[in-house]
Amino acid sequence: MPVTGVEFRTALARWASGVTIVTSAAGDRIHGMTVSAFTSVSLDPPLVAVCADKTSDTLDVIAKSGVFAANILSADQQALSNRFASKKDEHRRFEGIDWRAGATGSPILRGVLAALDCRVVASHDAGDHLIYVGSVESAEVFCGEPLLYYGGAYRAVVPVEVG
Ligand SMILES: Cc1cc2nc3c(=O)[nH]c(=O)nc-3n(C[C@H](O)[C@H](O)[C@H](O)COP(=O)(O)O)c2cc1C
Repeated sequence: MPVTGVEFRTALARWASGVTIVTSAAGDRIHGMTVSAFTSVSLDPPLVAVCADKTSDTLDVIAKSGVFAANILSADQQALSNRFASKKDEHRRFEGIDWRAGATGSPILRGVLAALDCRVVASHDAGDHLIYVGSVESAEVFCGEPLLYYGGAYRAVVPVEVG
């Protein structure tokens, strides 16, 4: 018997992740969305993947541009995560935000912990989601602590006492 939706969601809520904002720019359109389904795929060549709902508007922009940036959020960027996850004022997500174009032209947001600028090398149909695999053209790293997502809530890193 297949797993129920509730069982599936409950199990996945036990998976702790970081939070990214995946951005892209095509022509004069810039867009981005909050994504926790982000992962490294290959070290050589350097590849990452993001999984996005097929209804996401960000996918249209990535499909046009062939590039995206994964902005890994810092612990103090919860509000930014919520802004890029909300459909309310979707077209105003970048308003008042400090960003610059990265190597591929995709927006790199100020204050992030790291930014990986990627060129799409493959896309895979996966149920109601689409997986984009990106070849990493540039990786920038900054100081700070990561924003985590676990059990449907934001969390911060707490060091584990060893011994
Ligand atoms: C913490 C968090 C993580 C999320 N992770 C994903 C994800 O991995 N994939 C996805 O498709 N949507 C994810 N979402 C939901 C999207 O950010 C949301 O549907 C957004 O409005 C899509 O924007 P767009 O349609 O403008 O692209 C997440 C939302 C939050 C708050």
